[in-house]
Amino acid sequence: MKFAQFLLKNGSVAGIPKHVERFSKFSPSPLSMKQFIDFGSANACEKTSFVFLRQELPVRLANIMKEIDFLPDKLLGTPSLKLLISWYSQSLLELVEFLEEDPYDKDVLSNFTKTLVNVRNRHNNVVPTMAQGVVEYKEAFGVDPVTNQNVQYFLDRFYMSRISTRMLMNQHTLIFDGSVNPAHPKHIGSIDPTCDVSEVVKDAYETAKMLCEQYYLTSPEMEITQLKHIHILSECLFCCMINAVVCFPAKNPGQPLHIVYVPSHLYHMLFELFKNAMRATVETHEMSPTLPPIKVRVALGTEDLTIKMSDRGGGVPLRKIERLFSYMYSTAPNPVHVDNARNAPLAGFGYGLPISRLYAKYFQGDLQLYSMEGYGTSAVIYLKALSSESVERLPVFNKSALRHYQTTSEADDWCMPSKDPKKLGK
Ligand SMILES: Nc1ncnc2c1ncn2[C@@H]1O[C@H](COP(=O)(O)OP(=O)(O)O)[C@@H](O)[C@H]1O
Ligand SMILES: [Mg+2]
Repeated sequence: MKFAQFLLKNGSVAGIPKHVERFSKFSPSPLSMKQFIDFGSANACEKTSFVFLRQELPVRLANIMKEIDFLPDKLLGTPSLKLLISWYSQSLLELVEFLEEDPYDKDVLSNFTKTLVNVRNRHNNVVPTMAQGVVEYKEAFGVDPVTNQNVQYFLDRFYMSRISTRMLMNQHTLIFDGSVNPAHPKHIGSIDPTCDVSEVVKDAYETAKMLCEQYYLTSPEMEITQLKHIHILSECLFCCMINAVVCFPAKNPGQPLHIVYVPSHLYHMLFELFKNAMRATVETHEMSPTLPPIKVRVALGTEDLTIKMSDRGGGVPLRKIERLFSYMYSTAPNPVHVDNARNAPLAGFGYGLPISRLYAKYFQGDLQLYSMEGYGTSAVIYLKALSSESVERLPVFNKSALRHYQTTSEADDWCMPSKDPKKLGK
């Protein structure tokens, strides 16, 4: 085991490999939005949450630590990855210590909350640190399609795991710290049971607009439209069944569209999309006196809540779309400078789209980009309309995951266009 070797070689915390083996044998237990809400509403029980988390957090950490083991050796050898592994090991150790503790002891519960805060802070810089490791690897060894594919597969799972563990830790610390969020008394931890989607769209737009104006001294307007399926309970004309549901789309711009969701996740996605749309719009219309607006449409159906953001920023050729979501092909400058918003107000280190897509996928949604090169781009966020379908999407380390890391460079199973056309006349 590479993980074990690394830790033993470094004389670090003993017992880690054993914990990783033990907890990675369990599959993570995905929670639904309803379960998150139940954990935090009237019958909220800190003991139950504690007993669940002291097992579930180590399981999620250990599952992803098993996958870290399968990264290319040269990537594992970078200082950034070593630092990262030490954070994960330390956090795993701190959490498993609670397994033997008494859930009825108030001190245990308060120590657990403190530990969660420590773990969360320790992992604050995981994304830029990992990105730094990838940059170091890329600079030293270049990028090949197989490594890109493996790293993409791993990082999507790694960052998704991180989103999920932070969600669990945030819920516990926010719900059981004994106070109500004065700005949002109805929130349950980080969840808003009646999240007004258009409000979040407007917030994200305003912040992106501010950055855009600081940098370019101008910014595009936004137009927002809300669409909703209206459900009418009525008598079905064909089968005489009462209460058949008739749905038809209707525009009712005044009515807010609500969803049970984590507003900070939605804000994150929209903010990234607005920054991209604004930058593209301003840069392609540098010479024109006016800027075309960014159009946002929010639609609520029976299954999906969809947010479509369309810009006229010149678009991206189809060939490049997939790359925009790639961690390895991103134009990552040194992420150390990324925190400094003044250096790169509208563009980060190329992680805006892939991480936003993970936030969308986390509760079974998605984020897709449709572009018309020469005209503009539409980015679409899909979320589940029903909270019963918003269930965490979590990676699990098993044989299928293992198979992904064992892909070798085989020949492509689609013909490459040859440069010299075949002489069909012969
Ligand atoms: N709406 C858009 N129009 C044109 N290009 C876009 C748009 N959105 C994204 N892109 C391209 O995709 C790249 C990656 O976007 P992103 O993941 O947000 O990273 P970053 O903005 O930090 O470069 C951008 O640099 C840009 O070239
Ligand atoms: Mg961006």
